[in-house]
Amino acid sequence: MSPETLQSSGARASGPLEHEIRQRGPWFHNLHLPDGSRTAPDHPLGDFPAYKWRQLEASLPADLSGTTALDIGCNAGFYSFELARRGAQVDAVDVDEHYLEQARWARGQLGLDAQVCLFPSSVYHLARRDVTYDLVLFMGLFYHLRYPLLALDIVARRCADTLIFQSLSLPDAAEPARTSGLRWQERQLMTRPGWPSMAFIEHDLAGDATNWWVPNHAAIEAMLRTVGFRVDARPGHELYVCRRDPALTQAARWLDDEYRAACGLE
Ligand SMILES: C[S@@+](CC[C@H](N)C(=O)[O-])C[C@H]1O[C@@H](n2cnc3c(N)ncnc32)[C@H](O)[C@@H]1O
Repeated sequence: MSPETLQSSGARASGPLEHEIRQRGPWFHNLHLPDGSRTAPDHPLGDFPAYKWRQLEASLPADLSGTTALDIGCNAGFYSFELARRGAQVDAVDVDEHYLEQARWARGQLGLDAQVCLFPSSVYHLARRDVTYDLVLFMGLFYHLRYPLLALDIVARRCADTLIFQSLSLPDAAEPARTSGLRWQERQLMTRPGWPSMAFIEHDLAGDATNWWVPNHAAIEAMLRTVGFRVDARPGHELYVCRRDPALTQAARWLDDEYRAACGLE
C-alpha cells in the first residue's frame, strides 16, 4: 500500500466523530459509522473498500450465523465488520498496530465487540495456529509478501471451505497456458502471455517498498489449485471466490517436510 497515494488523513471527516477520526488517521479503509461519519471520505480510490464489498457480497451467504471467519491483513476492519453483521464470528489479524487500533475503535462504534476478535499477527504466525475457519479473507496482502507461496500454504491450511483471494495483478489476463509435460527445449513458452508468472519488485512500486511479487491471472489460479482450491467465481477485478476442492486437496503438491521446516514447526 502506498502511503502517499492510497490513504486518507481523515482531515475531511465530518460529523461528531470528526476529531477522533482525524486523531486516528491516516486511514486506508473508508468506514461508514452509525452517526453518518466516514473515516476516509476523500479516499483516492473512491468509497473504498465499500465498492469492492458490493462486488463480493452476492457471492457470500446473506446469513453467516454459526460460521467462523478469519480476515488476514484486516486493516481497519471493513470486511470483518461486514461479515460480523451477517452473523459470522470473526477473527481479524494485522501486523500494524496503527490499523488494529483503528479497527478496535471502529468495532466499538459499530457495537461489534462480541462478534469480532482483533489481534496482532502476521500471516506467517498463523502456521502455529492450529484452527480452521469456514471462511477466510486473504485480500490485498499477497503482493506485499516476500514469501507469498509459503503464506498461501499457511492460509490454505486455515481454511475449511471458502477462501476469498484478492491481489494486485499483472495486466496479463490471457487464458492460462497448458503447463504440464513441457520439455527443456520448450522453455520459451514460459515467456508467453498466459504462462503462470509473477513479476519481482526489487525496489518499490508506486513509491511503496512493501510490494514484492505481482502475479498474473494464470499464476493466481495455478497457485490456488496447488493448495487445494478451485476458483468458483470472479465477481470483480482481481477478486477470486475459491472453494476447497477435495480432488485438488488430495492432489495438492504439499511438500510437508519443506513447509514444516520453513515455518519452524516440529
Ligand atoms: C493493502 S492492505 C489490505 C487491507 C484489507 N485486507 C483490504 O483488502 O482492504 C494490506 C494490509 O495487510 C497488512 N499486512 C502487511 N503485512 C502483513 C503480514 N505479513 N501479515 C498480516 N498482515 C499484514 C497491512 O498492515 C495492511 O493492513
